[in-house]
Amino acid sequence: MPEDSVDKLNMVTCTAPVNIAVIKYWGKRNEELILPINSSLSVTLHQDQLKTTTTVASSRSFQEDRIWLNGNEEDISHPRLQSCLREIRRLARKRRSDGDPGVDVTGLSHKVHVCSVNNFPTAAGLASSAAGFACLVYTLARVFGVEGELSGIARQGSGSACRSMYGGFVQWIMGQRDDGKDSIAQQVAPETHWPELRVLVLVASAERKPVGSTSGMQTSVETSRLLKHRADSVVPGRMEEMVEAVHRKDFATFAELTMKDSNQFHATCLDTYPPIFYLNNVSRQVISLVHQYNRHYRDIRVAYTFDAGPNAVIYTLQENVAEFVQVVRHFFPPETNGGQFLKGLPVDCVDLSEELKNAISLAPMPKGIGYIINTKAGPGPCVVEHPNQHLLGPDGLPKNA
Ligand code: DP6
Repeated sequence: MPEDSVDKLNMVTCTAPVNIAVIKYWGKRNEELILPINSSLSVTLHQDQLKTTTTVASSRSFQEDRIWLNGNEEDISHPRLQSCLREIRRLARKRRSDGDPGVDVTGLSHKVHVCSVNNFPTAAGLASSAAGFACLVYTLARVFGVEGELSGIARQGSGSACRSMYGGFVQWIMGQRDDGKDSIAQQVAPETHWPELRVLVLVASAERKPVGSTSGMQTSVETSRLLKHRADSVVPGRMEEMVEAVHRKDFATFAELTMKDSNQFHATCLDTYPPIFYLNNVSRQVISLVHQYNRHYRDIRVAYTFDAGPNAVIYTLQENVAEFVQVVRHFFPPETNGGQFLKGLPVDCVDLSEELKNAISLAPMPKGIGYIINTKAGPGPCVVEHPNQHLLGPDGLPKNA
């Protein structure tokens, strides 16, 4: 390719994680700025198993901002994408006028090309928008040379994305201000704080979620009195208890709060009018399985949580993973000639005692769960240093197009 066909590209590639809330965000007080009606808390999952990778290039020769997601060009005029682009450029201009020499002044007017891929199927129903917007904002910030608090910008892409800007255990403080400046994410503890904690994603179905979280929570805010009660009177206390439980690494308290909060979130969905159902028969079977398993041991060893879809996310400790995975395999016998049932971190094979099998009274549900991803808490967004990892070529277009 001739040297001068594209002006010098400023190209950066970063990765960002998925997060799973243990105190759920559901409901906005400001739709445009994405300001929530309650604070929330999540665990950032390890990027070895689940991540978004994004490359952003800027160049004087680009005619317009463009974006490719998982191989397809998408409409960059989407208001939430526009908010993120506008806010990063605004911050860069402000830093420059404040005299920060790190900001590339010539690049400020340049258009960007963005290319983003997930290392997990979108159909897995995982919160890909959180990882996606966190990665977009983190990468754009590096291209434009801005640093510091960025979760408030990621929040304007998707509320839960602000929590993916940090690793480990992260709270999103709802804030009080009308301009949203105090509605930001903060790390509660780093990923190294609780090394025994494990996360199992039980992928129940490849169906797409029936009602998206954005419109679902809007209807809940309009119609559910339970949601108002939850936000005003339940979540504030629960947030304090959860932060304490994380600091103390008190699994029983962490687990009980996680399950109760998931259940209350799904209760507010049922209290929404018309009601919203995210759980299916497999989800309900997993809930029952977890409670029977814990009752058998007279100890809370495993917790479930569900977002706006039927997949269970299980929190447990490393010492219980092998047995619980075997329990799941027993009650949800996988397709024998299907793909791999267990992905992610390796798990030892164990035999289940007859006593345990008899203690759980459930009819097996063949193929109810497609596969399990075994993962743990992980770090926040990272810069990918190696240039051959860029998703855009030297012409500024996706490499694999
Ligand atoms: C159930 O962050 O996807 O996963 O802000 O409208 O983009 P928008 O919603 P989104 O909602 C996530 C809801 C949830 C709970 C949570 O992650 O806290």
